[in-house]
Amino acid sequence: MRKWIVAVAMIAGLPAAAMAADAENGKTVFNKCKACHQVDKNAVGPHLGGVVGRKAGSVEGFAYSDAVKKSGLTWDEATLDKWLQGPSKLVPGTHMIFAGIKDEGDRADLIAYLKTLPAAK
Ligand code: HEC
Repeated sequence: MRKWIVAVAMIAGLPAAAMAADAENGKTVFNKCKACHQVDKNAVGPHLGGVVGRKAGSVEGFAYSDAVKKSGLTWDEATLDKWLQGPSKLVPGTHMIFAGIKDEGDRADLIAYLKTLPAAK
């Protein structure tokens, strides 16, 4: 099964680094985010295309909380890992109401998946 997934990823031309953590599982974990986030356009939350490496609160046209806008954070892997354990613990006052993902592996897989997403405007 795993071999098959890797083969499909290779055919799809996903970057090899994305396969270190299980981006395929991360895509499943991402279902928890879909109620509020889309990859290429803003919804309840800002779009997440190209979010890894992006400055917090920087998507044009999205009405962020002051807390996120003034956080001064950049969404690198370590920051995202903290955010995904409970956004309001990292940024008190954020509008993202989310209980958090307890499983460390699931968080790593999710971040690996987020890295595969192309930047959206
Ligand atoms: C209940 C709705 C909801 C869910 C579920 C949700 N989010 Fe959010 N998310 C938001 C909102 C609203 C914001 C904007 C927060 C603010 O402005 O304070 C946000 C902001 C973010 C940001 C900051 C983006 C930026 O441009 O600064 C990231 C990263 C993020 N969410 C990732 C996720 C991930 C990954 C998941 C799934 C594990 C998830 N969110 C689940 C509503 C949600």
